[in-house]
Amino acid sequence: MSKGKILLTGAAGYIGSHTWVELCQAGYDVVGVDNFYNSERDVIGRIGKILGKPVTLEEADCSDFGSFSKVFEKHPDIVGAVHFAAYKAVGESIEKPLDYYKNNITSLLNLITLMKDKSLRANIVFSSSCTVYGQPDKEHLPIAEDAPLKRSLSPYGKSKQMAEEILSDSVIAYPELKVCALRYFNPIGAHPSALIGELPRGVPQNLVPFVTQTAAGIRDHLNVFGDDYNTPDGSCIRDYIYVVDLAKAHVKAIDKLVGETEVHPVDQTDEPTYVDAAKTGRWYIYNLGTGRGLSVLELVKGFMKATGVNLPYQIAPRRQGDIEQVWADPKKAEKELGWKADTPIEEVLRSAWNWQKTL
Ligand code: UD1
Repeated sequence: MSKGKILLTGAAGYIGSHTWVELCQAGYDVVGVDNFYNSERDVIGRIGKILGKPVTLEEADCSDFGSFSKVFEKHPDIVGAVHFAAYKAVGESIEKPLDYYKNNITSLLNLITLMKDKSLRANIVFSSSCTVYGQPDKEHLPIAEDAPLKRSLSPYGKSKQMAEEILSDSVIAYPELKVCALRYFNPIGAHPSALIGELPRGVPQNLVPFVTQTAAGIRDHLNVFGDDYNTPDGSCIRDYIYVVDLAKAHVKAIDKLVGETEVHPVDQTDEPTYVDAAKTGRWYIYNLGTGRGLSVLELVKGFMKATGVNLPYQIAPRRQGDIEQVWADPKKAEKELGWKADTPIEEVLRSAWNWQKTL
């Protein structure tokens, strides 16, 4: 028996496709939505292959209200949505801020409106990012959900901060709405089947796709951006999380929202206030990371060790806008969602390499 119908926007993308698989394997019916702006059509068939059954894809642009609302007309029994559809390239967002705000914010406004007015139940899991914390002060590392949000360094990052504001304001105003914002650290790796994974277009901007392309001989060498940071080996530190572990956290978040039949205000004596959406008992935020920071050089060496493949690299100047170090305190997600990222990094790096070899 199905646990309910879940709408997945940006379903053919990197995290979307892995989440699609995990949601179906957990017993949900999934309606995938994508306009293939930044993803490939054959991903849909590959998801079907992993699941051993055909999947449901509605081609629509979430920023176009007319086209998006048709999905709800066709599927009035949606009980929850996971919203991935967004532009995500930091550098590009600086060059084209209006495109980023228009697409990312309009899609979200349309989703909230349609979930509120046209779905059976208005549960939303939102794809946010650790970028909302900016460069955290050292005393806040590892970073927990209540750390101060610093000014984000790109329109992409700001669109995530704005989206969280829009969602929390909406939760306060509309009692039918329940939202879980998931702040991802650095997702890497690919499905163990090697049928789906990250598909960067052009020269990869993110570390692991560049690493695997270099190992495959597509790139000459990897540039390690900076070895003069105030970290043990001088390179930047991040919290790299396996994309399948990350996908499973979305299942836990959907389980939580869909499984709660009643709203339990956190503090029954307090009236929900405008400033604190958490007091409604319908607004949750979780960091999704491993809790371990890894430097660029550690990752590079870890990759060579895990795969046995040589990786030529050079130290290059710092990349503008990079954060020195950030890693998660994931205890809240463990306590409240019963979720933990526990795949060993060697296995994760091998999965990325196995995927690269199929391309
Ligand atoms: C970036 C974004 C983040 C976004 C994420 C998407 C910023 C500040 N953050 O994270 O908001 O959600 O991408 O995945 O832009 N590196 C190299 N050589 C390379 C590529 C990267 O040394 O060729 C280093 C970077 O300097 C950084 C680390 O690898 O220290 C990770 O970089 P990347 O994968 O681009 O992710 P973030 O910059 O952490």
